Amino acid sequence: MSVACIVVAAGRGERLGEQRPKAFVEVGGRPLVWHALRAASDATRVSHVVVVAPDGFAGDPALAGVAAVVPGGATRQHSVANGLAALPDDTEIVLVHDAARCLAPPALFDAVAGAVLSGHDAVVPGVPVVDTLKAVDGAGRVTATPDRTELRAIQTPQGFRRAVLERAHLAAVERGDTDAPDDGALVERLGLPVHVVAGDADAFKVTRPLDLLLAAAVLSRRSA
Ligand code: C5P
Repeated sequence: MSVACIVVAAGRGERLGEQRPKAFVEVGGRPLVWHALRAASDATRVSHVVVVAPDGFAGDPALAGVAAVVPGGATRQHSVANGLAALPDDTEIVLVHDAARCLAPPALFDAVAGAVLSGHDAVVPGVPVVDTLKAVDGAGRVTATPDRTELRAIQTPQGFRRAVLERAHLAAVERGDTDAPDDGALVERLGLPVHVVAGDADAFKVTRPLDLLLAAAVLSRRSA
């Protein structure tokens, strides 16, 4: 079965405080999106990669060699939809990956794709939560402390049977949802099961300046 990966790289990434879009900020001498694309291409089960790029970056050298480069949308959900529209006809399984999770290893792509191939319609990687999480109301009062052992921090790549992900995005448009937190959430809204596989510590999302330091440290550990 043909597996394609959509790498979304069109966010502005304001929390990082850099001048350029986050995916084009460099770590280890290369843009985040370059690392993400390399991991997707190195995954043995991925046969086609589509990257969703911000305005003005379609010709960036970091994207050289990628099968398709498509423009981003106003939200991550729109960017994924643009990537979905550019998939080859024969694609049966789709992985969706955040360029910001630039150090997710190829083995994680393969594990997620493998779980879809084994029969799950929707698969997300998750890791145990280390902090205690609390729900807080507008007045700053704690309203709940969920049992941490039941919680997972969800990463990408997330994997789907293509028809299911397309249906989930179409239903979101019909409901008027424009900014889903992730693609798994859209499948949940269809009432379909979403399966969790073990995530990877290296698949953390570069969001704040501290994350860039961590990414640089991971890269130098890998090359040591
Ligand atoms: O902002 P955040 O880090 O949560 O974004 C997750 C991923 O979605 C990033 O890789 C970002 O480039 C991408 N994105 C996008 N288009 C948007 C917003 C985010 O491709 N409009």
